[in-house]
Amino acid sequence: MHYGADYNPEQWPREVWPDDVRLMQEAGVTLVSLGIFSWSRIQPAEGVFDWEWLDEIIDLLHAGGIQVDLATATASPPPWAAAAYPEMLPQDADGSTFWPGSRQAYAPSSPIYRRLAAELVTALAERYAQHPAVVLWHVNNEYGCHLHYDFSDAARDAFRAWLERKYATIDRLNHAWGTDFWSQRYTGFDQIQPPRKAPYSINPTSVLDFKRFTSDTLLELFVMERDIIRAAGAAQPITTNFMGAFPPADYWKWAAEVDVISDDNYPDPNDPESFRGAAFARELMRGLKPGVPWLLTEQSTNALNWRPTNPPKAPGQMAALSAQAIGRGADAIMFFQWRQSRRGSEKFHSAMVPQAGLETRTWREVVELGGQLAQLPSLPDVSSGARVALVFDWENWWAIGGRDHPIGLDYLGLAHRWHAALHRQHLAIDIVNTTAELSGYALVVVPQQYLLTDEGAANLSAYVQAGGNLFVSAFSDVVDEDDAFREGGFLVGLRDVLGVAIEDFGALVPPEALTSADSAGEISTHAVPEGPGQSEAPLDGPAGRIVGQYLAEELLVQDAEVLGRFTDGRTAGRAAFTRKRSGAGTGYYLATIPDDDGMWEVLRWLTAEAGIRPEIEGLPEHVEIARRGSILTVINHSAEPFSVTVIGTDLLSGSTEPVRELGAFGWAFVDTQATGQKGI
Ligand code: GLA
Repeated sequence: MHYGADYNPEQWPREVWPDDVRLMQEAGVTLVSLGIFSWSRIQPAEGVFDWEWLDEIIDLLHAGGIQVDLATATASPPPWAAAAYPEMLPQDADGSTFWPGSRQAYAPSSPIYRRLAAELVTALAERYAQHPAVVLWHVNNEYGCHLHYDFSDAARDAFRAWLERKYATIDRLNHAWGTDFWSQRYTGFDQIQPPRKAPYSINPTSVLDFKRFTSDTLLELFVMERDIIRAAGAAQPITTNFMGAFPPADYWKWAAEVDVISDDNYPDPNDPESFRGAAFARELMRGLKPGVPWLLTEQSTNALNWRPTNPPKAPGQMAALSAQAIGRGADAIMFFQWRQSRRGSEKFHSAMVPQAGLETRTWREVVELGGQLAQLPSLPDVSSGARVALVFDWENWWAIGGRDHPIGLDYLGLAHRWHAALHRQHLAIDIVNTTAELSGYALVVVPQQYLLTDEGAANLSAYVQAGGNLFVSAFSDVVDEDDAFREGGFLVGLRDVLGVAIEDFGALVPPEALTSADSAGEISTHAVPEGPGQSEAPLDGPAGRIVGQYLAEELLVQDAEVLGRFTDGRTAGRAAFTRKRSGAGTGYYLATIPDDDGMWEVLRWLTAEAGIRPEIEGLPEHVEIARRGSILTVINHSAEPFSVTVIGTDLLSGSTEPVRELGAFGWAFVDTQATGQKGI
């Protein structure tokens, strides 16, 4: 288990460095990410390198037994670069330039930026590839973090080249983009612009392709640096830090290119429920490279600086969130940053060594956690035992987030809510994409999969035929990978396994207007009689009232059973929830998006139908469990003490006493190997 932080020694006089190493040893630090923002110190002018300070600190760390995750320093070009080559600066959709003076002021497509970055990385890799302190390479930093999209001329030229590679002929592009609409037909790739400021709605497929291009372009930068590092003879693993579900980078695609997944985690301490979103992100990271441990490369020890208000973490919360990551496969717990900065934008951001000194709760918690991690055995098996999978898909995120839809939907927010409905039930959850291997899951949940590729539709359908339970909810399978409707209406790709089609999407007034007397918003699938004279017994669907939001789709039921109907509003009496037995499995469709309790209710019913149960029943909602091979992690994400019974051996205390007392933000790793209990 690695423990450490970003280390920025260039912000400190050299006299501090030996003290840093001594304190790192005291805290149990094993690994630091070095040089992430050091370009201007390493290369004070083009062609001029200053290695002396970097040599010294790497040797000092090595002598102190601290390993180095060496960064390539390309995330923040030095001022001399933009002064000499202003054309390397990025621009927004209006053509305004992002100037230097902050960080990340470079156009990812800029050939000049790429040349300068390549020169720096070549020199750095050749110098340190064989250094025994260097155990990992940290390429750039949080690609795209501040600058999601670049619309500069460099981006324009690269976008055109990317499109030409994708479509080969302009006619194919014209077909995919539907350019006969509004006289947008192109006669050459050189006429195409990125989706810059335009009078009105921009061609949606062009926007989707621009998002694909942006993700690919950032990934190209990573691959360029990675290949330079390898060519210099470096044998260490190479990574770059992800940011959970981060919009501009399709990490499903990126995962194949990095040796190890790294992730940063900054849940909002203001929000008592933010641990669920953190669980979502950690589950996503575990899923990117199934079976392989990943690294938590950044979190904060305490308060942040970049939200409107930045309260401290509660006592113990930092360790609880660390345990959450370890329980979901992390093999490193690291922070931004080692020593709190005295100057600059992030001086209020907490660190392992606080500005307030060592007589502080932060330092005590840092040292305590370091001691605990040092006791942990290696935990190679990261399998979660999950029998339910939740689909999360970047291409769909990009497409569904476009404009001109029946209703605006926040896909990430919805994915978090669907996940939370499972998480609140203490189920192990894997996050997958539509083309994942699904045979191990008893239930696959597909929320708002507006864009569904042919390949994804075939995979989900095959899963059902082979015996799986597939649950799809509203505004799914609407368009193909070109963001175009398919022949045959809506829900075409999954028609065979769902047995329903859609007549109309039935957009509702926004949820906040639900109280209005004539609102179409309140929907129930509960206990609705089929017709006069029929039984009033509850239908064979989820019990309890389910309030639908956003959409009340008008379904055309073909060969599915109706499990629930809308009771209110325009669609009253029409099918809301359906089931079709298909092959050896079952396809369920819900024609609305429930509120939080409705999501809980529907998924509770579906998981019970699929025979999925939590490993420990009856836990309160703020207590979470996660499995990592034979280790069960139990975490109390609240200040209320709680005790839980788990048979096994506590990895830290060695206790086999089954009743585990969890104080405020208390947690335990319990090895249940001997009990034979594993998975759900
Ligand atoms: C990101 C960056 C760090 C730092 C932190 C602050 O994760 O990678 O350099 O800015 O945010 O929270």
